[in-house]
Amino acid sequence: MKNFLIIMISSSLLTVLVSFGEANANSSDQNTVFTKEVDSIALKVNALLAKMTLEEKIGQMNQYNGFWDVTGPAPAHGDAANKYEHLKKGWVGSMLNVRGVKEVRQVQKIAVEETRLGIPLIIGFDVIHGYKTISPIPLAEAASWDLEAIKLSARVAAEEASASGINWTFAPMVDISRDARWGRVMEGAGEDPYLASLIAKARVEGFQGDDLSLANTIAACAKHFVGYGFAEAGRDYNTVDVGTSTLYNVLLPPFKAAQDAGVRTFMNAFNELNGIPATGSAFLQRDILKGDWNFQGFMVTDWGSINEMITHRYAKDRRNAAEIAINAGADMDMESYAYVNELASLVKDGKVDERLIDDAVKRILRVKFELGLFDDPYKYCNETVEKEVIGSKTIMDAVLDVAKKSIVLLKNENNLLPLKKQGQKIAIIGALANDKTSPLGSWRIAADDGTAVSVLEGMKAYKGNTITYEKGANVVTGETVFPKELTINVTDKSGFASAIAAAKKADVVVMVLGEHGLHSGEGRSRSEIGLPGVQQELLEAIYKANKNIVLVLNNGRPLTIDWAHEHIPAIVEAWQLGTQSGHAIAQVLYGDYNPSGKLPMTFPRNVGQVPIYYNHKSTGRPTLQEPGSVFWSHYSDVSNTPLYPFGYGLSYTSFSYTDLKVNTISNHTVEVSVKLTNTGKVKGKEVVQLYLRDEFASVTRPVKELKGFEMVELNPKESKIVTFKLSEAELGFYDNDGKFNVEPGTFSVFVGGSSDATLTAQFEIP
Ligand code: NOJ
Repeated sequence: MKNFLIIMISSSLLTVLVSFGEANANSSDQNTVFTKEVDSIALKVNALLAKMTLEEKIGQMNQYNGFWDVTGPAPAHGDAANKYEHLKKGWVGSMLNVRGVKEVRQVQKIAVEETRLGIPLIIGFDVIHGYKTISPIPLAEAASWDLEAIKLSARVAAEEASASGINWTFAPMVDISRDARWGRVMEGAGEDPYLASLIAKARVEGFQGDDLSLANTIAACAKHFVGYGFAEAGRDYNTVDVGTSTLYNVLLPPFKAAQDAGVRTFMNAFNELNGIPATGSAFLQRDILKGDWNFQGFMVTDWGSINEMITHRYAKDRRNAAEIAINAGADMDMESYAYVNELASLVKDGKVDERLIDDAVKRILRVKFELGLFDDPYKYCNETVEKEVIGSKTIMDAVLDVAKKSIVLLKNENNLLPLKKQGQKIAIIGALANDKTSPLGSWRIAADDGTAVSVLEGMKAYKGNTITYEKGANVVTGETVFPKELTINVTDKSGFASAIAAAKKADVVVMVLGEHGLHSGEGRSRSEIGLPGVQQELLEAIYKANKNIVLVLNNGRPLTIDWAHEHIPAIVEAWQLGTQSGHAIAQVLYGDYNPSGKLPMTFPRNVGQVPIYYNHKSTGRPTLQEPGSVFWSHYSDVSNTPLYPFGYGLSYTSFSYTDLKVNTISNHTVEVSVKLTNTGKVKGKEVVQLYLRDEFASVTRPVKELKGFEMVELNPKESKIVTFKLSEAELGFYDNDGKFNVEPGTFSVFVGGSSDATLTAQFEIP
C-alpha cells in the first residue's frame, strides 16, 4: 500500500513539475510559471509573491481558529500560544470563527497594518444554512427541489455573513450519503448525484453571486473532497472504501458541478478513501481536482486533518504529515499547526519543492484579490451595514419562503389536512412544538438560542381555533449545549396523562415529534433512527385517546416511522426549518401553502435496510422467482421497498401523468414529453421527475437514475406538457477508468411524481 502511495504521489508531483518546466521554458519569471493564464490578477499575485519570504508564503497557507476576546487575544497554551505572534509576523493567511465587524476589524487591522507586507486575512466561517437568520437545514432545502429558492437562501446567508465581516463560507457540503445514521446527512442534499449537483451549483451561485468583489458576496467551499458521506455504518469519521464506479458516478459529480459553477475553494476530508486519507491523496487533489478539472482556486484541509493522518497511522509524525499534505495538493492548513511549524524546514531539507508552496500561495492570493480584499481589506467591516442587514425583512421573507417549500406531506388520509381555520379545538402535543431553539438545527453557530418561531407560536398566529398545549415528554434530558453530547435516555412519562386528557377533548391533535436540532450534525451519528426517547410511546398513547392526529416531524435525517405510517392519518415532514419554522409549518397545516416538497433521501422501514437508496443496482437475483423461494436478494423479515421512496411527496391536490412520448432528435439526443394534469380541487405544484435506465452496459448500471425534473404549478383541471431533453450528459456514465461514455443500446425512461414512477417508454441509442 505504502509503495503504491509513493508512486501515486511522485507521479502527481511529476505532473506538476512537468508543467512548471514547460512554462519555465517560455518565461523568465519564476513566478509566472504555474498558470499560463496571464490575467491581471495573475500579474498582481506574481508581483506580490516575488516579495515574499518563504515564511511569509507559508503563513498564507496557515489558518487559525479565532483566538480573540473582544479586548484582544485570548490566553492559550501549546501551539495555540503562538497564534498572536504569528499573526503579527504575517504568518497567518486566514482565520475562522472570528465574526462580527468589530472582531474581524481588529484581526484584519493587525494583518494589514502591522505586518511587513500587509496581506489581508480571508475570514472563514461555517455559514451552512444561514448566519444569524437561519434557513432550513440543507437536507430540508433539498426537499424543495426549488433551485431558485435554494440559491436565494444561500444569497441571503451571504448577505448577512458578509455584513458581519465574513468573506468565505465552508459550504456547500456536497457529500452524497445513503446512510441516514450519518449525522451529517442534514448538511447535504441527500442521496442523488443529479439533484445534488444542481443544488451544489445553486448554492455556489447564491453565495458567490455574479461578482465576488462585491461587499455582499463571499467565496464558497465545496466539501468534503471526497467520500465523507460514505463513512462505514454511518459512523462519522469512519473508514470509506468505495469502488471507482461509485466514486466517479455518484460521489464526484456534485463536486464537479460546484467546480463548473466557479466555486473558489474546496475542503478535503477527515476520512480515508480506499486506504489513503483524503487530506494526503494526490490522486484526488492533484490528479482529479487540479489536473483533470483544472481547478484554479485553493484547497483548505478540514479541521486538523493533516495531523489526523498520524492517527490514521498513515503519517509517522507531524513533519511527515505536512510533507504528505502539501505534496498531495492541500493548500491551506486548518488548525493542524503543521505547515507553519514544519514546511520551511521541509523545503530547506529538499523534501518539499518550493514551487509547490508558490503554487498554493498563488491560489490563496488569487481568491483574496478576487474578493477585492487588497482594494479594501475592511470592505466587510461596516457597522451600519451590519445593523441594517442582519435579520432584515428581505432575509426573513426568503427563509420563510424556502421553509414552506421544504415541507413534505408524507400522508394525508381522508384529507385531514389542511386544518379548518375556525371553530376547532386543537391540542398541540410534544416538547418540540414549544421549542424555539431546536428548529434552528445543527450548524448555526452565529444564531442565538431561542430565535426560531415555534410551532405553537405559528399556530397561535391563526386566531379562529382554540389551542391547548401539552408537552407530553421531553425529547432530550439535560443540556443541549453545543458541542456536548445530547442525553437521549428520556424515561420520564409523567406528562403523558395531561397530554392524553388534552387529546381526548380535542377535535384534532397536532403532535410535533422527532429529533432535537442537535441530534444530527457533525459527530452525531445514531444507530437507531426512530423517534428518540419515549416519543413513540407518547404517540401510541395519544392515538388510543384520539385517532385524529397530524404528526409533524422535526428531524435532521430520514427516520424509521413505520408504526406512524400505518396508524397516523396525516404526517408532515417538517425537518428543522430554521428561524421561521413555526410560521412555515402553520401555513402548510392551514393550507395557506400547498405542500410541494419531495424527499431527497429514501426513508427506510427499519434501520437494517440502510443503506437504502433508489438508484441501486439490479443484482443477479432481483426478484422472487417462485412463491416461497429463498435464494433471491431480499430480507426474510422486511420487504426490499422503502417506507417512502426518494422523490416522494404529496400535495393537497392530485396530479395525473399521461401521454408519455419519446422523440429522437439525433443519435445522442432525445426529447421526452409528458402531460401533467391537476386532477384535484386546489391549485398546486408538482415536481415532474424523469428517471432513466440504461438497460444493458459494459459496467452494470442502476435500475434508474434521476436525469431531469421540472416544478410545475397548475390550477385544478389545468394541464401542461412538460418536455425534457436528454443528451450525452444524461445518457452516458463514467467507466471504471473515469472515462465518460455513451454506449449504444436500449434505454427506458420513467416519468412521474417520485422514483417509483411507472409510466414508461423505451428508446434506442444507435
Ligand atoms: C469540521 C467540519 O468537518 C467542516 O465541515 C467544518 O467546515 C470545519 N470543521 C470548520 O468548522
